[in-house]
Amino acid sequence: MTLTQQRILATEIPGPRSQALQARKVAAVSAGVGTTLPVYVEQAGGGILRDVDGNQLIDFGSGIAVTTVGNAAPRVVEAVQRQVADFTHTCFMVTPYEEYVAVCEKLADLTPGDHDKRSALFNSGAEAVENAVKVARHHTGRDAIVVFDHAYHGRTNLTMALTAKNMPYKHRFGPFAGEVYRAPMAYPYRWPGGAEACAEEAFDALVATVHTQVGEDNCAAVLIEPIQGEGGFIVPPPGWLARVATWCREQGILLIADEIQTGFARTGDWFACDHEGVVPDLVTTAKGMAGGLPLAAVTGRADVMDSVHVGGLGGTYGGNPVACAAALAAIETMEAEDLPARAREVEAAFLPRLRALAERHPDRVGDIRGRGAMLAIELVSDGTGRTPDAALASAVHRACSAQGLVTLTCGTFGNVFRFLPPLAIGDDLLAEGLDVFEAAFDAAVAGKVE
Ligand SMILES: Cc1ncc(COP(=O)(O)O)c(C=O)c1O
Repeated sequence: MTLTQQRILATEIPGPRSQALQARKVAAVSAGVGTTLPVYVEQAGGGILRDVDGNQLIDFGSGIAVTTVGNAAPRVVEAVQRQVADFTHTCFMVTPYEEYVAVCEKLADLTPGDHDKRSALFNSGAEAVENAVKVARHHTGRDAIVVFDHAYHGRTNLTMALTAKNMPYKHRFGPFAGEVYRAPMAYPYRWPGGAEACAEEAFDALVATVHTQVGEDNCAAVLIEPIQGEGGFIVPPPGWLARVATWCREQGILLIADEIQTGFARTGDWFACDHEGVVPDLVTTAKGMAGGLPLAAVTGRADVMDSVHVGGLGGTYGGNPVACAAALAAIETMEAEDLPARAREVEAAFLPRLRALAERHPDRVGDIRGRGAMLAIELVSDGTGRTPDAALASAVHRACSAQGLVTLTCGTFGNVFRFLPPLAIGDDLLAEGLDVFEAAFDAAVAGKVE
């Protein structure tokens, strides 16, 4: 079946078949596993998700920043089919294969810095973050990990401890792993002393947190998303991350950049650290890397990664050959189609329209931020009062869904509307998606959304 790059509303959304499947879901799947929009997908590609009722929705979410190269991207499909037919699993720790090594070679080439690097592969972002922490502790002989307000690093026990937000990620799932300390995030829009003071004061606050609560010599790593994802697409002020990196180096503290959401072309460069010229000691990646197959990595300084004893890192499925084949094909697609440049084009298409929306609704759009194809607006109820308006974000989301546009919200206060389109989306669908979004926004502000 070919998938036209066209929005089609064939039924109400969700349609009857999706509703029947949702009833089965409720009876079979844990209620703890939520769904943002219960339309059941049967095919996807380019900028379109086609559901079981024949509706075709425009995708502004990429399965949470995963299908950067598009769903069922041709090179990925071909590579996966070939690999599945060759072999599906040996366990790299038992009898290895070339694809794993080739992915690690690519990671060494593409991640920030041209120093000697090594990688290890895993199944999920959270698993990569856990392993980055293991490596940092092992190498430094120190225990403490410093993270930030609004951080999101995953849902396993250690990564819940690293994640800031209680609901829905942590509530009654504790007790959590220890030796995790939190510093204020350099969040210009909500910095108490104002955006101008943010870089300086946030840096001082980090240094003070480590000095007074941890002790520099006890601190293994500072772990940061260079642009925060689930916490609200928070972009720190220019220069702040570089200053943090320099200070960490002076203290013998490793800098771990969690590029799981920002990495692989999403922000208009290969990695978000590249915009700031920052070279972290360790980088975690996942999501966009493998075109939708589960694969994650820790990549870092060879001396740090190689300090771990043989057998200290691994897992049954980590670096599965099918996922590795998909990653090699996805990365080839990003290179051949210059997807970092495409992300910058997406930014150029979105920003003027988001700015025009903010001018039309100055009391409701508090901030516009992000980079490349990772953009967001922060919604408020009272303009300069900056009171978060999660209800408005939710109403806009509902109105977009009803019109066949898949969107996502995020943020500690649930009031950030974020845009993560696949980079395989065409210009026409981008523009149409923005039309739908703007109409949804106007209707929500006017109180016309149920
Ligand atoms: C920055 C960041 N780190 C870690 C994770 C966890 O990744 P996963 O859901 O693959 O475990 C995510 C997922 O959204 C993320 O955005």
